[in-house]
Amino acid sequence: MTAERTQVAIIGAGPAGLTLAHILHHHGIESVVIERRDRAYVERRLRAGVLEQGTVDLFRALGVGARMDREGLVHHGINLQFEGERHRIALSELTGGRVITIYGQHEVVKDLVAARLAHDGPILFSAADVSLHDIASDRPRIRFRHDGQPRELHCDVIAGCDGTHGVSHDAIPPGERQVFERTYPFSWLGILAAVPPSLGEVIYAYHERGFALHSMRGPNVTRLYVQCAPDDALDSWPDERVWFELAARLSTRDGWSVHEGPVLEKSITTLRSLVTEPMQYGQLFLVGDAAHVVPPTGAKGMNLAVADARVLGEALARWYRDGDRRGLVEYSATCLRRVWRAEHFSWSMTSMLHRFPDTDGFQEKLQLSHLRYLCNSTAAATSLAENYVGLEHV
Ligand code: FAD
Ligand code: PHB
Repeated sequence: MTAERTQVAIIGAGPAGLTLAHILHHHGIESVVIERRDRAYVERRLRAGVLEQGTVDLFRALGVGARMDREGLVHHGINLQFEGERHRIALSELTGGRVITIYGQHEVVKDLVAARLAHDGPILFSAADVSLHDIASDRPRIRFRHDGQPRELHCDVIAGCDGTHGVSHDAIPPGERQVFERTYPFSWLGILAAVPPSLGEVIYAYHERGFALHSMRGPNVTRLYVQCAPDDALDSWPDERVWFELAARLSTRDGWSVHEGPVLEKSITTLRSLVTEPMQYGQLFLVGDAAHVVPPTGAKGMNLAVADARVLGEALARWYRDGDRRGLVEYSATCLRRVWRAEHFSWSMTSMLHRFPDTDGFQEKLQLSHLRYLCNSTAAATSLAENYVGLEHV
């Protein structure tokens, strides 16, 4: 077996792991990224699309924002739609000029991978059988197979950035962590279509047939979602059915509707909320989806992953530079404040916008009242806007 050493071992080459690797490099700290999938897979995986201002600022500061600045779409508002009418929430006006940027998560991953490889930072793709050892000691180890060979990586710290289906969270003994969880009785069917967006901004639509979302990936590519049943299979959603539901849920009374086009990709995402506390055990730190999941209705997941990576990266820099462990000791509590704000916001948007199978007149009246309040009260709209663009201090 080959045994090697690094300062920080990072499991997972998603937004969390790759951002952390860049922050550490910026501070002269060595790391190795170990990823289960191959490079093409992680660069093609379609997921998030909305970057908060803080996420964009960090990518720029790390020198990985050039393509995002060229190709990302800066948006100053979003739209809420219900009862056939559209209402705009003026994000920038309500938040002192803050914006969101639409730029696909796979593009972020491509940029981060290219920049990492350009400065010879190791990413071990297609690693198998990753396991964590001695995480409660100050000499943790990771074992895995790479190119068919068993390998062992010794390190000071392990960053578990391996998402919901990773191995890191389960390495914390069950008695040392608490899990808080909600599942929702619906999923999202998402498509990518080769057609220009039907409107220049994101639309969240509440409809008696179920929720729908209009977003985009560029001037000629639209990203759309419809609420579906949690156990729906893709083959029960032929393209005609998807377009029919999108038209029914997104059309407005003044005759506006969505543009149809060839479907490039189609997938189903389940919705859930989950938080693991604390986000640290011994020398293992959980980062991003490995520690927490939000339903995508608030567009928060990737932004939270990047925010965790920033907190951990800065804490590690302080520790290596000054021997000061305070940032590491406070890592979990610092991240969880932002995480719970995002959990509440995402749950609230999800509860307000979806059709629940056991819904009754009372719940519908509450949902509509909440939506009307957001559109008619500057105070309520400001609260939504500041959560959507991302709160720095919570
Ligand atoms: P991941 O991206 O899941 O990365 C984890 C990595 O670890 C993966 O590459 C995985 O292959 C690897 N891995 C897993 N197990 C192992 C193992 N055993 N060994 C080695 N490697 C392993 N978020 C937003 O902020 N805005 C949005 O608009 C938004 N929209 C979304 C829409 C959809 C449809 C979905 C599904 C998600 C959306 N999200 C959004 C959420 C966002 O995609 C995630 O929160 C984000 O990917 C989290 O990043 P991460 O790096 O923590 O985890
Ligand atoms: C997306 O563009 O994929 C997107 C936008 C807003 C969301 C979720 C996903 O809330």
